[in-house]
Amino acid sequence: MDINTFTQSRSDEWAQRGLSRQIRHFTSAQTPTANIDGRTLLQFATSDYLGLSTHPALLRAACEQGTALGVGSGGSRLTTGTSIHAALERELATFFGYPDAVFFASGYQCNVAVISALADPDVTFFSDEHNHASLIDGMRMQRHARTVVYPHRNYEVLDLLLRSRTTPHALIISDGVFSMSGATADLAALRALADTHDAWLLIDDAHGTGTVGETGRGVIEATQIKPDILISTASKALGVEGGMALCSANVAHFLKSQARGFVFSTSPSPLIVGAVREALAIIDREPERIDTLRAHIYQLHRGLGLTPPAIPTPIVRIPIGDEQRCMTISQHLMDNGIFVPAIRYPTVARNQAILRITITAHHTLDQINQLCATLTLACDKFSLPTS
Ligand SMILES: Cc1ncc(COP(=O)(O)O)c(C=O)c1O
Repeated sequence: MDINTFTQSRSDEWAQRGLSRQIRHFTSAQTPTANIDGRTLLQFATSDYLGLSTHPALLRAACEQGTALGVGSGGSRLTTGTSIHAALERELATFFGYPDAVFFASGYQCNVAVISALADPDVTFFSDEHNHASLIDGMRMQRHARTVVYPHRNYEVLDLLLRSRTTPHALIISDGVFSMSGATADLAALRALADTHDAWLLIDDAHGTGTVGETGRGVIEATQIKPDILISTASKALGVEGGMALCSANVAHFLKSQARGFVFSTSPSPLIVGAVREALAIIDREPERIDTLRAHIYQLHRGLGLTPPAIPTPIVRIPIGDEQRCMTISQHLMDNGIFVPAIRYPTVARNQAILRITITAHHTLDQINQLCATLTLACDKFSLPTS
């Protein structure tokens, strides 16, 4: 069989299961009113939670650094790394209150690189079953890795599993804000388990940075709990791209020489580094963005008749179940001028498709009300629960 026939049959199989993917084309920036596939729609899909991707100061900073240092960085950090990469890492460490930081080209790459670097016959990974794919792929990357998956946020079961571990070391791995539901991990419970069982704790707070905590430091600020390694990404509330690991100086030193995604990949462009540095500064300079986002999160919950969680986040999921039905409802919303993506397997489990709403500081209250009204009508039409 030639490769075209092979890939066609694999694609046909996915299509039969209602899993075909269609890539959307935005011809505008990630603004609330966006041009998507030739139509102007009110979108609730972006992770640009604070609206920083179009902030003039970020664009200026990117251009300035590109002009000074070039568009491309020319190689791995270990060969042609620039001084601004190091400066960004110092600023990240200060921002999150960690001794050190390592910056990667993307959040995905960061998770795969950090976790696979820590894989060792003496280490067992304990992973929440709803963790992001990049954490899972990090655990899968290394043939030495032993992984135990615990039920979502079930810390009693995690306790039992940790008790029966057979390796000298253990690393507990969890999303801080779960990317598909907006629920938060119980960091106090996880820290207590890690301390009791002499385990290490890694939290990926990609969706908490800039959105959770009084000053946007994420779940570590909301809970006052520090994991041993905090992972985040600049691709969401910071409005840019690039992954980051916040950690001790020892861990940072180890990652910079042994994490393959750091060592064997060209370091991020100076444009990106310049923009991320500016985004960190803006979060502190313009705290009203976080206040506005929080008000919008409450407005969305009120409008949908939902009770806001103790730690509010900008992600709300509407459970649908059947994949085809989810696509039909998402299309119905599009026909009514609103883009809310349908999320299906393999991003969530089979037959547990969801509509995933993300809200930003840049939406207006009118736009949020419009979403709530349209969704409420859709819920009636398709007999859906909203909670
Ligand atoms: C929890 C979580 N971790 C990591 C990533 C990957 O980050 P990035 O998109 O910057 O590669 C994402 C984003 O998709 C995410 O939701």
